[in-house]
Amino acid sequence: MNSKVELHVLFDRQEIEATVRRLASEISPDYRNQNPLLLGILRGSFVFLADLIRHLDFPLEVDFIGLSSYGSGTQTSGKIKVSKKLETPVRDRNVLVVEDIVDTGLTTAFLLDYLQKYKPASVKLCALADKPSRREVPVNIDYLGFNVPNKFLVGYGLDADQKFRNLPDICYLEAEA
Ligand code: PRP
Repeated sequence: MNSKVELHVLFDRQEIEATVRRLASEISPDYRNQNPLLLGILRGSFVFLADLIRHLDFPLEVDFIGLSSYGSGTQTSGKIKVSKKLETPVRDRNVLVVEDIVDTGLTTAFLLDYLQKYKPASVKLCALADKPSRREVPVNIDYLGFNVPNKFLVGYGLDADQKFRNLPDICYLEAEA
């Protein structure tokens, strides 16, 4: 990563908090009494998932799956691999996939297809951010936080070369003028 970049706040921690609460209020009536499995996609979703579940006041379970695309930097080859399997059987479960950002859609499209092999009762998608300008494959987002512009986002779990995941705000990186 070039060190001559500037960080700009896109959504601050108060806006994120309000949006996570709003998403929880949308999700709650659909999943109360269903003991859903919330499935976070590693690594980016871990901060969002951790905050989201603390606003869900009903029984639920959490698991993670590691997915990554072949390729490097900001370019993806379009091929997704499972880098960490999920451990919870999903057969007949109501699964809510939790993702930080949908960009090309390749990661979530892969996962939704992958999960169908294990015959869940239902699968829905909750994404904190959607970057529709980059979409390559259609993805239906059932619960969406923010629509975002085509900028390189970091913070709140999102990384640039594994850095910046710890920022409490969602920021974008820009080359210094
Ligand atoms: C990022 C992000 C999503 C995915 C979205 O993950 O967390 O999982 O890309 O991109 P797509 O819609 O184009 O597939 P990344 O592969 O960078 O790994 P990370 O979660 O470990 O940051």
